[in-house]
Amino acid sequence: MRVLGIETSCDETGVALFDSDQGLLGHAVHSQTEIHAEFGGVVPELASRDHVRKVLPLLRGLFHETGIERQTIDGIAYTAGPGLVGALLVGAAVGRSLAWAWKVPAVAVHHMEGHLLAPMLESEPPAFPFVALLVSGGHTQLVHVAGIGCYQLLGESLDDAAGEAFDKTAKLLDLPYPGGPELAKLAESGNPDRYHFPRPMVDRPGLDFSFSGLKTFALNTLQDAKEREGGNLSAQTVADLSRAFEDAVVDTLLIKCRRAVRQTNSKTLVMAGGVSANRRLRRRIGEMMAKEGGAAYYPRPELCTDNGAMIAYAGCQRLLGGTDEPLSFSARPRWPMESLEAVSSETN
Ligand code: KG4
Ligand code: ZN
Repeated sequence: MRVLGIETSCDETGVALFDSDQGLLGHAVHSQTEIHAEFGGVVPELASRDHVRKVLPLLRGLFHETGIERQTIDGIAYTAGPGLVGALLVGAAVGRSLAWAWKVPAVAVHHMEGHLLAPMLESEPPAFPFVALLVSGGHTQLVHVAGIGCYQLLGESLDDAAGEAFDKTAKLLDLPYPGGPELAKLAESGNPDRYHFPRPMVDRPGLDFSFSGLKTFALNTLQDAKEREGGNLSAQTVADLSRAFEDAVVDTLLIKCRRAVRQTNSKTLVMAGGVSANRRLRRRIGEMMAKEGGAAYYPRPELCTDNGAMIAYAGCQRLLGGTDEPLSFSARPRWPMESLEAVSSETN
């Protein structure tokens, strides 16, 4: 089965072609970073308008570059939520319209299920069951995954998502938007011993997270440093603060992941979502799972952040599992992943 995937839930327009026999045939992402940079965050209306502008040219380019004929497409997958409602509606309307015109089925895909399944696009995919850490700009969740659509939430952030904490702390440090990757880059040259940030909620039992306190801690530490440095932070201090913040987030995520795999007796940990592109997190989680006698899996960095490939893959599995949806659609800005239907295990 050959599926076209469309992702427009936030500030990236992503399109991809996935074939269940041949794998990923091609994908393209257009990032709106430049549009939102001057506002320091995503402006929903500007995001929707840019998806409208970019989605069709991006699709044409994808078909052109891969040389795939649209007549060979068996189905269309689009992100229906969670995300920004106006942005979601663009992908949903385009996906559903093309499906109607091409007389193929269309399927609404859950954005976080897309992230969760992205490691399946790699040459050595993980086998079910596994524990997944989903870390993006909007979510921080630990999920037990028994199969596609069989998700049990083990824990989640009670306030800010890990990516959101990265972005907000980067903003406090006056780093250019988008802050998360920028802060991670600076942390590389930071001194790990100069500042120590707390590891929130690790002393408490359970698998929930809380990251909003870290941002406040960063603000207080930064203000102290500013006073000491006469009003302006030196580049080294910014790097040292970045390193202390990143270490705190990475340690916290790692401690909870270790707890989750031990608790569920699992030897496989999957990590996905934008923050899973973080190099230190990937290395530390890999080392931790090796020590536990297991292994960690994550997508290549370009498939950690939002993309159409993960949507095409997830949609393909659902279509193969027999999902049949009516022509009408609704975007679902809020959509609990545990409410998804299981895809029959024969197709998994
Ligand atoms: O999955 P994603 O592209 O979009 C959402 O579904 O939210 O994740 C974006 C988030 C942002 O908060 C961004 O700062 C963060 O992922 N991120 C990173 C890195 N790359 C992206 N955070 C830390 N280190 C990185 N290298
Ligand atoms: Zn995402």
